[in-house]
Amino acid sequence: MREGSITGLIGPNGAGKTTLFNVISGLTQADGGEIRLGGDRLDGLSAHAIARRGLARTFQIPRPLGRMTVLENVLVYAHAQPGEVLARVFASPARVTAAEKRLRERALAILESVELASLAGERAETLSGGQKKLLELARVLMGDPRVILLDDRARHGPRHRALRSRDRDGPGTDPPGGPVRGGAARSSRARGLPRDRRVTALLEVHELSAGYGDHEILRGLSLRVDAGELVAVIGPNGAGKSTLLKALAGLVRPRGGRIALQGTDITGAGTRRIVESGLCYVPQEANVFPSLSVWENLTIGAWTASRSLHERAGAVVQLFPILAERRRARAGTLSGGERQMLAMAMALMVEPSLLLLDEPSAGLAPTLQRLVFDRVREINARGLGILLVEQNARESLGLCRRAYVLAMGRVRAEGPGDVLRDDPDIRRLYLGG
Ligand SMILES: Nc1ncnc2c1ncn2[C@@H]1O[C@H](COP(=O)(O)OP(=O)(O)OP(=O)(O)O)[C@@H](O)[C@H]1O
Ligand SMILES: [Mg+2]
Repeated sequence: MREGSITGLIGPNGAGKTTLFNVISGLTQADGGEIRLGGDRLDGLSAHAIARRGLARTFQIPRPLGRMTVLENVLVYAHAQPGEVLARVFASPARVTAAEKRLRERALAILESVELASLAGERAETLSGGQKKLLELARVLMGDPRVILLDDRARHGPRHRALRSRDRDGPGTDPPGGPVRGGAARSSRARGLPRDRRVTALLEVHELSAGYGDHEILRGLSLRVDAGELVAVIGPNGAGKSTLLKALAGLVRPRGGRIALQGTDITGAGTRRIVESGLCYVPQEANVFPSLSVWENLTIGAWTASRSLHERAGAVVQLFPILAERRRARAGTLSGGERQMLAMAMALMVEPSLLLLDEPSAGLAPTLQRLVFDRVREINARGLGILLVEQNARESLGLCRRAYVLAMGRVRAEGPGDVLRDDPDIRRLYLGG
């Protein structure tokens, strides 16, 4: 690579991109060959020595130091920390304090550049999936590196800016341009259901509020998914999309509002009861057991399945043939795409009537994203209701019947996917123009 240039490294999942990064950054020893940065030979050096020479990398799955604040996470990545030499701390404390101040200012400026400054004081474990990726970028910049190895697109959504024209200041004010309530009835007809058959709400969420500690994240959010419907939720990083799914799955306690699944109130119910009622959730991160085999992962959660385990697994694996091939492999050795397939397959083993998917395409090569979206469509075509949270807004709006745009824990717009996709405001704010 030439100095100051951007070089892309592409290839299908499993091609060896991350392995190459591991070797360059010193996490894995090379069997042969040479790696040079400027004049320095890097191969054979330890990871920290390589980092000191100006090479930084991000990881496909960001793991910040969770108990430390966002700012502290960035600060620890500065090389030559002012307090490193203890004698200097005693000899010239004022200079050390001044140096520390400069570091903090730099760290804050970097956080500002990735739109995380407002979260500087929060514990890193509380960041959303996209925010963790942005933090990863910030900490790398703090090391002032000569080369950055960016593993996976450090994807982040379009910029936060409230959809002011869409701001709904009371119930019943339909946002301009898109049919709101009533859209469901229309869509069921479009799917060819008989007109007189009443559309049954599979999931009804009314004025839901939830949060963490003092932080109110969901603020009176209402939505519905009808039986067999595919509904997408899009919105900027930190909008509360994952929190919504966690609240529905019973992992975050609702503070107000009501959640009904097939007419049964499940507000505040335990996760076990919720799963038994037919709702299954595939999280954004850590959604398989890496040390168990593919087969063990598939069978481990299937306790609600009515059919025999083998019958069930046979049917599920038909949708994901790759899993049959790799049934004995440890889930931790699967590529990103395969892991995502396994996570979805695990959920299907439970035979749910509503599937909650949190960013199933995140971090996948475009061809694999296609594959995942095709599977989502196929699963839905079999009559399963799906609530799909996606960073890939354009794709998910094309896939779904209806969609909700979330911002700051509230629904800012809703309507048929294609209507939202063609809406100039939504395009500008959420689809990158
Ligand atoms: N365990 C937690 N404790 C405290 N705050 C949290 C916690 N989890 C999430 N948050 C905060 O709640 C807000 C919403 O997070 P959430 O994960 O729901 O966002 P999201 O819409 O899924 O974003 P992304 O697109 O980045 O995944 C964020 O500001 C995040 O920092
Ligand atoms: Mg999320």
